[in-house]
Amino acid sequence: TDPSLIRNFCIIAHIDHGKSTLADRMLQLTGVVQPREMKDQYLDRMDIERERGITIKSQAVRMPWEFEGESFAFHMIDTPGHVDFSYEVSRSLDACEGAVLLVDAAQGIEAQTLANLYLAMEHDLVIIPVLNKIDLPAAEPDKYAEEIAHLIGGDPDDVLRVSGKTGAGVEELLDRLVVEVPAPTGDADAPARAMIFDSVYDTYRGVVTFVRVVDGHLSRREQIRMMSTDATHSLLEIGVSQPEPQATEGLGVGEVGYLITGVKDVRQSKVGDTVTARDRPAAERIGGYQEPRPMVFSGLFPIDGSEFPVLREALEKLQLNDAALSFEPETSAALGFGFRVGFLGLLHLEITRQRLEAEYDLDLISTAPNVIYHVTTEDGELHEVTNPSEFPDGKPTEIREPIVDATVIVPAEYVGPVMELCQSRRGTMQGMDYLSEERVELRYTLPLAEIVFDFFDQLKSRTKGYASLNWQGTGDQAADLVKVDILLQGDKVDAFSAITHRDHAYSYGVKMAKRLKDLIPRQQFEVPVQAAVGSRIIARETIRAIRKDVLSKCYGGDISRKRKLLEKQKEGKKRMKTVGTVDVPQEAFIAALSSD
Ligand code: GTP
Repeated sequence: TDPSLIRNFCIIAHIDHGKSTLADRMLQLTGVVQPREMKDQYLDRMDIERERGITIKSQAVRMPWEFEGESFAFHMIDTPGHVDFSYEVSRSLDACEGAVLLVDAAQGIEAQTLANLYLAMEHDLVIIPVLNKIDLPAAEPDKYAEEIAHLIGGDPDDVLRVSGKTGAGVEELLDRLVVEVPAPTGDADAPARAMIFDSVYDTYRGVVTFVRVVDGHLSRREQIRMMSTDATHSLLEIGVSQPEPQATEGLGVGEVGYLITGVKDVRQSKVGDTVTARDRPAAERIGGYQEPRPMVFSGLFPIDGSEFPVLREALEKLQLNDAALSFEPETSAALGFGFRVGFLGLLHLEITRQRLEAEYDLDLISTAPNVIYHVTTEDGELHEVTNPSEFPDGKPTEIREPIVDATVIVPAEYVGPVMELCQSRRGTMQGMDYLSEERVELRYTLPLAEIVFDFFDQLKSRTKGYASLNWQGTGDQAADLVKVDILLQGDKVDAFSAITHRDHAYSYGVKMAKRLKDLIPRQQFEVPVQAAVGSRIIARETIRAIRKDVLSKCYGGDISRKRKLLEKQKEGKKRMKTVGTVDVPQEAFIAALSSD
């Protein structure tokens, strides 16, 4: 296709503002999906996405469009909506020249809209502002057109008004995309360079890699080379999604499509990497490549210890489709054999866990998530700590923790509670702007560790659900952090060790000691439950000894009854974990870890 007839765009929107519905309407209007094949959210393939209503994996669809007698080709690139996947978002934006900024006409701009809008502007995309859901009785398009115009400049009258549901205004939007989005430019005669913006594992076809060709041409049956690793592969198939895969002879400048090489693992076909031709390789990679970097770590343990091999296999399978997932075996005295797993963020953790439980029928317990700390010890050595058990003994000279820039958008009346929350989580305010009279954007720098637990839930409950949040990792800072250990009868219970700010150590220690005291059954002897920072005890509870001897009522009685009772106790003990000399039912650990 002649690049001057190609238009590459994406839709950026906050969750639920109607991106999938609008995409569905475009598929219909351009005729690539017949009405009888249409199902809601056609592009959200994975069941899990459907279930949660979140688009995780981006896809690219080619759609024809006639405008003023010429046949254009759109490539609509679907961007993942959640902060955990921000690197994938940036790669998808890089494959486009234009972006539809889609805003719910009954809600206005939200934090995610804003974060993606800023990203789109950084990538120099032409922004087409659109208000959606104008069919809703609660829609206030005039008001929110003002808000958008105020934000991106321009005239409120230039903000298009559409309804993905009824289809109103969608044709006009497609026409505007042709007129306003620039055609791709690139050197057709140069060696081939294509940027990978998504890579998905397909059970039948292996890895399907989505690319945008920047220069040159990739042809079918060619040998290609991945520029980050220099690995070469044969192109088994090349084509475009319409949205069903359609094999072609090749892809040229500005075109967006897929490649199949027979590799079995997405880590061999990495998002952000450059594909070139083996026989006439490009000299330089396309910029912006990054290795996926896990930000949050958690221990995952099967509740039934015999399921450990199933868990390993399941994680290996998920990794085929998820280059950002990393894991290594971990052993816990309290929880047995499991894995230390690295995630991009909390949503990534939750989705992974849900998939493990739903698709592999596993019952799992996860330890409190933690971030990566860099600890320098007195001997000058630098330790990377992803697990409290790796926290070096002795007095560290410096501990650094990751920080994020967070944006919160709230109705003005909730500014107070949001500020309080951010301050209690060691946040530093960076700025505050009124988007309109009643809506405010607050910007904070916060430690990542303070937002990975329940920050979003707290934010929602303090603002009656009106706040929206977005954040982005920005670096790290030195912080006064300590490791808190929980001890039973003087022995550390590894699963409960945590790294916290010194000011929060006491409250964590008291909470966990109390919780365990309530959950662990009495023993034959008194058991102290303690919280400690180093060798200093900061909290103590006591599980009192059982007064009654279980065998006392059998004294003088018949011996077989006595034996039966002992037998029964042995049964019960199988499900016990022994920490030092204390027997603890595994359920107690699980309950202590899951309640909050
Ligand atoms: P995520 O994939 O979760 O980011 O959501 P999305 O932005 O793709 O939103 P989706 O298309 O799933 O729509 C969210 C909800 O809004 C659904 O219940 C849709 O039926 C509804 N919706 C979408 N567009 C319109 C519209 O134009 N009018 C009305 N009334 N409802 C709409």
